[in-house]
Amino acid sequence: LNNGLARTPQMGWNSWNFFACNINETVIKETADALISTGLADLGYVYLNIDDCWSSTTRNSEGQLVPDPKTFPSGIKSLADYVHTKGLKLGIYSDAGAFTCEVRPGSLFHETDDAESFASWGVDYLKYDNCFNLGIKPEKRYPPMRDALNATGRTIFYSMCEWGEDDPALWAGRVGNSWRTTGDINDSWASMTTIADLNDKWAAYAGPGGWNDPDMLEVGNGGMTYQEYRAHFSIWALMKAPLLVGCDVRNMTAETYEILTNREVIAVNQDSLGVQGRKVNVTGTDGCQQVWAGPLSGHRLVVALWNRCSKAAIITALWETLGLESSTSVAIRDLWQHKNVSGNAVSSFSAYVDAHDCLVYIFTPLTLSQSAI
Ligand code: DGJ
Repeated sequence: LNNGLARTPQMGWNSWNFFACNINETVIKETADALISTGLADLGYVYLNIDDCWSSTTRNSEGQLVPDPKTFPSGIKSLADYVHTKGLKLGIYSDAGAFTCEVRPGSLFHETDDAESFASWGVDYLKYDNCFNLGIKPEKRYPPMRDALNATGRTIFYSMCEWGEDDPALWAGRVGNSWRTTGDINDSWASMTTIADLNDKWAAYAGPGGWNDPDMLEVGNGGMTYQEYRAHFSIWALMKAPLLVGCDVRNMTAETYEILTNREVIAVNQDSLGVQGRKVNVTGTDGCQQVWAGPLSGHRLVVALWNRCSKAAIITALWETLGLESSTSVAIRDLWQHKNVSGNAVSSFSAYVDAHDCLVYIFTPLTLSQSAI
């Protein structure tokens, strides 16, 4: 969507994966504080997004949405003011249907009123869900909210959450800043890998202004191992997915913190070229030894060796699968070790990868004169 936003994938936090409906203004404020104190905000995680359950179950007498007086007694405007003083941005949630999934009022046929409420509160981001949609196609339900947001005059990031219904990559580039390509993620290896594969199919359609959204991060929620979370974060970054943290950032383990704050992996996600990396080669039983790669600015490549097998394996990236001439000499940086790999590689590169782990590299092809040095 051409509204000046999403030149790189959005980064921030969302309440749903960890808190679900157990949210209130204290949790949101403490999360704002934690985004600052942990340094996550400085790394780019600036959208603080409230998901379902912030609203009362009924509209007011003027037909407007109202925050739940028990959990958000100070209102959304005061929360927006609070997060803005910290340099963060506030996201809110509604639904392109009669109700949200948790049966709060939906915005279908209330687009103008609700967009005006969001803008008047100082909201910066809307996630727009797909429950109770009355069987109307998303192509019909999502553009009216785009237009209503635009008409407010406030610049609001528009995140479509239509669960991949009607292949949004094919049409949503003109509607939203990101669109979900799948149903909901859950905090498991099976869910994460399935969703990665589903999202991969639409790589060609992502770019500055509009991104494929394979759903939010589960890193830190406890259902996967360190290696699996590292793979989750690596592949989401490489796929130019939104990096929306979904754990309780007030209480992160050192491992969670290490993963979410890997500047070199974040830089892959936020690279100015904005091309979604993809699965480029598979070997091994059921294709469990995988190479994912994509171009970066400066003629560089990101290359991930992802071992989805149950045992450790040596995985090889062949230059021909990366679109490189086999004679090209390449300097390699390891983004998890934060080290340059010694010596330049020609024609292929192999590494030993633990079960379910994912190693990520930046390949910088050297010109003839550089490689002669
Ligand atoms: C379904 C969405 O896909 C989730 O991300 C979350 O927003 C829930 N609805 C909330 O009800």
